[in-house]
Amino acid sequence: MNTFKQVNISLPDNTYPIIIDLQAFNLSGLEQELTKRKIMVVSNTTVAPLYLDHIVDLFPENKVFTCVLEDGEVHKNVRSWQRILDALAEHQFNRSDLLISLGGGVICDMTGFAAASWMRGIDFIQIPTTLLSQIDASVGGKTGINHSKGKNLIGAFHQPKAVIVNIKTLNTLPEREFNAGIGEAIKYGGIDQPDFFYWLSSHVDSIKNRDADVLQNLIAKCCEFKAEIVEQDEKEQGKRALLNLGHTFGHAIEIATHYHYLHGEAVALGMVMAAELSAQLGHCDVGIRKMLENLLQAFDLPIKLDVNVSSDELLQLMKADKKVVNDQHRLILMRGLGAAFIAEGVKDSEILITLQSCLTHT
Ligand code: NAD
Ligand code: GLY
Repeated sequence: MNTFKQVNISLPDNTYPIIIDLQAFNLSGLEQELTKRKIMVVSNTTVAPLYLDHIVDLFPENKVFTCVLEDGEVHKNVRSWQRILDALAEHQFNRSDLLISLGGGVICDMTGFAAASWMRGIDFIQIPTTLLSQIDASVGGKTGINHSKGKNLIGAFHQPKAVIVNIKTLNTLPEREFNAGIGEAIKYGGIDQPDFFYWLSSHVDSIKNRDADVLQNLIAKCCEFKAEIVEQDEKEQGKRALLNLGHTFGHAIEIATHYHYLHGEAVALGMVMAAELSAQLGHCDVGIRKMLENLLQAFDLPIKLDVNVSSDELLQLMKADKKVVNDQHRLILMRGLGAAFIAEGVKDSEILITLQSCLTHT
């Protein structure tokens, strides 16, 4: 029986598979990529005890080294990136060698950035172990680290050679982290996949029970949605910005609350704000916000801030976002469910009204 689904992502310089297996780290088809290379597996102190030995055992023919970093978004910084580079230097990695990430989105992003920057770019494979990283962070080649002034301000586009998803890794994922991943899945529904939004609504129980077949479908669908957009706009010159629905608000919330919210939770709050602003500006019906809130709540995701943050502070942080162009806000708003668009030149005063309404909403 076939236990895996495969989604391919086809780009001008690199076509690679996303292999989504029900029970294994499935490297079939990658044998050629792996021969005669030194491998550095990058993980963290939470994931390494669970899965690092399994990964090392997959490569009996290779020299395998490991680099285990501190866990957490607060460690997605220059220091951790430097530690990966130091490990590569110590073991004399060169362009014919390979990096592997083993962990959630934080590890995927940092490993990818180390691969992008070491010797101006070496190969890497993503082995994402959170739902969020399996449906989003490991796919599409955005790599990076945070700066104290903002999320992911330092980074590069660098595509992996493959993404290897083993659904069994989700069995050890804490519930809050699992739900945060659903926040990013709901995002795809909001962008341009209304049918998927309804599919999620009708599978809440089986998803929450982590039914492996349902999760395999969910992950494959999300990877297909993301691949379709990235194939049209790899370096975010246009359409790819839609993938940031909820993110400009969300990144500001993450920084302002010192990462009180997980990334997927902040995106959930950000999507509610984007729906509110869309309605306030007359782009969509007020009911869109309610529909989003209902589905987010079904997965125990936050729909209003429970931390004291001022709207002015959030606005200032939004201005530091990468998506601000010539001092003009560039936000992803909605004309309806599954009808997101890029809104240029939204005014500070308009954003403030939304922030005030969302901060006081009960
Ligand atoms: P994370 O990487 O911090 O992982 C969440 C927690 O789960 C961590 O404590 C981690 O150690 C733990 N964990 C991971 N796998 C586990 C497992 N199988 N069992 C038990 N514990 C496990 O967070 P995340 O939500 O995976 O990723 C968020 C990050 O991804 C953010 O930094 C965000 O900016 C980034 N991101 C990047 C992209 C992209 O396109 N590059 C897209 C979305 C998000
Ligand atoms: N997560 C947004 C992107 O990959 O473009």
